[in-house]
Amino acid sequence: MSAGAIFWNVVPYVTLAVLIVGTWWRYRYDKFGWTTRSSQLYESRLLRIGSPLFHFGILVVIIGHIIGLLIPKSWTYSLGISQHAYHVQALVLGTIAGLCTLVGVGLLVYRRRTNGPVYSATTLNDKVMYVVLVAAIVAGLATTLMGAGVVGEHNYRDTVSPWFRSIWILQPKGELLAEAPVSFQIHTLIGLLLFAIWPFTRLVHAFSAPLGYLFRPYIVYRSRDEARDGDLVGARPRRRGW
Ligand code: HEM
Repeated sequence: MSAGAIFWNVVPYVTLAVLIVGTWWRYRYDKFGWTTRSSQLYESRLLRIGSPLFHFGILVVIIGHIIGLLIPKSWTYSLGISQHAYHVQALVLGTIAGLCTLVGVGLLVYRRRTNGPVYSATTLNDKVMYVVLVAAIVAGLATTLMGAGVVGEHNYRDTVSPWFRSIWILQPKGELLAEAPVSFQIHTLIGLLLFAIWPFTRLVHAFSAPLGYLFRPYIVYRSRDEARDGDLVGARPRRRGW
């Protein structure tokens, strides 16, 4: 067995172990630090655009990963979806969702860097997390372009996807990913790294995200000039945040 195959047999299980034990540890010892550490109080204009763009983008990316990695290509064939049709939709949807995610996270990082109070509230931990997150997204977009034959032809549903499924049935086939082009291997490695640092970052909020959170209005702060004598706070019409 090649060194690459052994590597791809072992690394996903190490990642899973760190993710599970790390999440348990974080919950056990830092229950009250289990938060997004929201900075909405300091700045909300850019957040109002960047945050939904990133979160809805990543939601579509996640759905794309579930379909692309978990559903064997024979199933989509039997539904009458040709390889070409699958690639076209993966390229179009994947690129749009990936770009929304990238622009969203770009706005969030720009906001963190340029807004004084938000920057002050940014820790080294956050910075490391953002670097890995952006790297995963950029490498993912590169693989999408390659997988769809724009840069070079490779069907990841013959390599990455069966490798991914083999992990969960405890019969790892590392040789499959070792055969894939290096761009796919880099993206997968960065993705696994993100999962390994996940429990130790603010990303833990995703594990406790109530779905309604995505659609809730932003916290509304009443500005001074809006409040006039005799105003009934509860009487003003409610507006959605975004
Ligand atoms: C084990 C982990 C992962 C594997 C095996 C994996 C695999 C892949 C593959 C094969 C593609 C190409 C899809 C296509 O051509 O249609 C892709 C694209 C992409 N990946 Fe991942 N990925 C992983 C984790 C992640 C993570 C953690 C992120 C981001 C936080 C991410 C973000 C992206 C993005 C933005 C794209 C491009 C847009 C898209 O096709 O959805 N991936 N990934």
